[in-house]
Amino acid sequence: MTTLGAIGATPRPGSTTKKAFGKTPEGQPVDLYVLTNKGGAEAAITNYGGAVVSLKVPDRNGKLADVVLGYDTADGYVNDKSYFGAIVGRYGNRIGHAQFVLDGKAYTLAKNNGENSLHGGIKGFNKAVWTAKVLSAKDGQSLELSYLSKDGEEGFPGNLQVKVIYTLTDANALKIVYSATTDKKTVVNLTNHSYFNLAGQGSGDILGHLLTIQAEKFTPVDSGLIPTGELRGVAGTPFDFRKSMAIGARIEQDDEQLKLGGGYDHNFVLGRAGDTDESLAARVVEPITGRVLEVWTTEPGVQFYTGNFLDGKSTGKGGVAYPRRSALCLETQHYPDSPNQPRFPSVVLKPGERYDTITTYRFSTEK
Ligand code: BGC
Repeated sequence: MTTLGAIGATPRPGSTTKKAFGKTPEGQPVDLYVLTNKGGAEAAITNYGGAVVSLKVPDRNGKLADVVLGYDTADGYVNDKSYFGAIVGRYGNRIGHAQFVLDGKAYTLAKNNGENSLHGGIKGFNKAVWTAKVLSAKDGQSLELSYLSKDGEEGFPGNLQVKVIYTLTDANALKIVYSATTDKKTVVNLTNHSYFNLAGQGSGDILGHLLTIQAEKFTPVDSGLIPTGELRGVAGTPFDFRKSMAIGARIEQDDEQLKLGGGYDHNFVLGRAGDTDESLAARVVEPITGRVLEVWTTEPGVQFYTGNFLDGKSTGKGGVAYPRRSALCLETQHYPDSPNQPRFPSVVLKPGERYDTITTYRFSTEK
């Protein structure tokens, strides 16, 4: 059973505790929920931006390490520009020229990434205070976060009621169930922006992590990292992760797409097994600790990003710096710029419909 422990209580296996995490610039207090599963793995989540602040999972010897980047207090998230651990919305990744047309009406968004809109705009869902509720779950610890994104917020149409349920299962998986409804036709693309380093946050780069991505194709980009519209085969390119490969093995190759991204920063087109169930999207192995991360999702794409824009300047948890490529992201999603790309799967949500997606980060170990 889920129990909400007292503020400041030491987390015990099979419990969820809540503690103060700081305040927004407007003075609103925000909290940190620490979900501890029966085996002692732990996910700490704040209702500021719905961010996963820390995620402690065992290595092959049972030793826990925190495998995500983040900050010690809410202040870090208020000032953050990297989206560490956050829920990203209303539209994850980029919308070209910060505009799109729905039913003949043009919508203009803030240009917060060159000419383009990135991750929902200036004050995206990552900067919102979510309403949190601890739920009881059979198989782990669950936290429900809700947020009403008002009609016109950051330029998007429709009041969008969003719900995200995080469950840390007793099998060491972090399951994320997203849902949303709207009262006007709109576009939605939600994701979680956790930055993983399976050797432990602050322990060097991720170039030695071994990666598999279940994708035959990816979406090449232009210089603003907007997809050109092409679905390009990965065969014979540094984007072929159909067989396990060290992330750093080809990252410095003389390849136009790698140069444009400063490394990997691309959407992969997932070969999905079914329509509603989650499929395996990617698998990451850290050979020294033996930690394994599998990403399962109902989404058609995943943004593989190698932390190319991290520069070591922001100070993370425990005072550690996060240099370039010290973590990787696997952001499950619809493809970037879908509102302007009629050939990509649709991101339109209409009144009466429900946006429903699931992504699970499953942790395990191998010898
Ligand atoms: C984008 C990167 C961006 C990062 C942090 C990723 O989803 O693709 O280009 O730098 O998020 O905002």
